[in-house]
Amino acid sequence: MTTDPLLQPYRLKHLTFKNRLMSTAHEPAYSEEGLPKERYRLYHAEKAKGGIALTMTAGSAIVSRDSPAAFGNLQAYRDEIVPWMTELAEACHEHDCKVMIQLTHLGRRTGWNKADWLPVLSASPVREPAHRAFPKEAEDWDIERIIADYASAAQRMQAAGLDGIEFEAYGHLMDGFWSPATNHRDDDYGGALENRMRFSNRVIDAVREAVGPDFVVGVRMVADEDLATGISREEGIEIARRLAGSGKIDFLNIIRGHIETDAALADVIPITGMRSAPHLDFAGDVRAATGFPVFHAARISDVATARHAIEAGKLDMVGMTRPHIADPHIARKVAAGQEHRIRPCVGATYCLDRIYEGGEALCIHNAATGREATIPHVMTPTEGILKRVVIVGAGPGGWKPHAWLRREATR
Ligand SMILES: Cc1cc2nc3c(=O)[nH]c(=O)nc-3n(C[C@H](O)[C@H](O)[C@H](O)COP(=O)(O)O)c2cc1C
Ligand code: SF4
Repeated sequence: MTTDPLLQPYRLKHLTFKNRLMSTAHEPAYSEEGLPKERYRLYHAEKAKGGIALTMTAGSAIVSRDSPAAFGNLQAYRDEIVPWMTELAEACHEHDCKVMIQLTHLGRRTGWNKADWLPVLSASPVREPAHRAFPKEAEDWDIERIIADYASAAQRMQAAGLDGIEFEAYGHLMDGFWSPATNHRDDDYGGALENRMRFSNRVIDAVREAVGPDFVVGVRMVADEDLATGISREEGIEIARRLAGSGKIDFLNIIRGHIETDAALADVIPITGMRSAPHLDFAGDVRAATGFPVFHAARISDVATARHAIEAGKLDMVGMTRPHIADPHIARKVAAGQEHRIRPCVGATYCLDRIYEGGEALCIHNAATGREATIPHVMTPTEGILKRVVIVGAGPGGWKPHAWLRREATR
């Protein structure tokens, strides 16, 4: 029995997570025709093999056809997704790794000239600088349709055998209604906080009705937009309290900041040279204020900080998302006393840039990531004859294998 706080199990409803490590939602753009096929499955199964307790699949899987994919998002509105998600879930369950999926309507965070060229929707017609669409104000029938879409997408994921879902509520449609920066409505969905929460409350009610009381449902929410005109810390914590008190959801996954420009996004997903774990204390404050299960990820890149997050009672589950892109075997190595063998995530964030620029997430430190079908993550040194190899080039592609081969050659 280990006393390592990171390796202690955590019970959420009927689920037992075998340790405190999770990968938060991130769309690696490995989808094929909007579906999670072999490449997608092998990518998540590798984390499961590596010992992670929970993998939140997709990132922004879209619930409505009128919310076109911005970066290869999974299409949760199609029935064809069910058998693919079942295969993925089974491949992870084999290693006792729980599997959930993040569902969303992207709101204004997508382009208008994609898919069916339908107008992008939001609470109010406030343009998002990154995607540049002027959204249409969601009308009554849009709201009714999208609520029904959330419910049927959730049912599909339940039918696929997933352990739960979370809603994305930062920079997308749900929080677009919450935020005074993007909600200028004067009907029942605008003004007082109660009105601004009406859309998300109706979605949660409809989903709960559709999936029943036992399925795990969470919200990945912004609890402080860190924006003069946006959701303040006080209001964000109040939203978290109301969600926690609704009796309809099971966990909160906390975000601090806003994402409508690249510069702002870098504060939410901090890159090389920025502070370690900049929002961890804030997430801990939300946990203390709500007394509710709290998950969080934002540059908790090393095991010591992750362990601190659990030991200090700031989080229930700690997200190490890019760290698992760089090394999907973190939990296994921690359990084996091999922390020093974890390939570190350096925060270059090439993985994220590439979903926009190259159409697939790749890692600057790990060539096997996303190529699990052809490159193994665990390499066994040869027992045969050592050969002389000349590596032309430097950087991560050159010095690493060079150092490794030199070490092997001198054994
Ligand atoms: C390639 C990539 C895609 C992402 N897509 C999403 C997404 O669709 N939804 C979401 O909530 N977060 C998304 N994220 C953010 C991650 O869930 C996480 O919050 C972020 O990487 C910070 O955590 P980390 O420092 O542990 O990586 C994405 C991150 C990456 C690297
Ligand atoms: S590309 Fe960089 S930021 Fe992304 S996982 Fe690899 S090391 Fe981490």
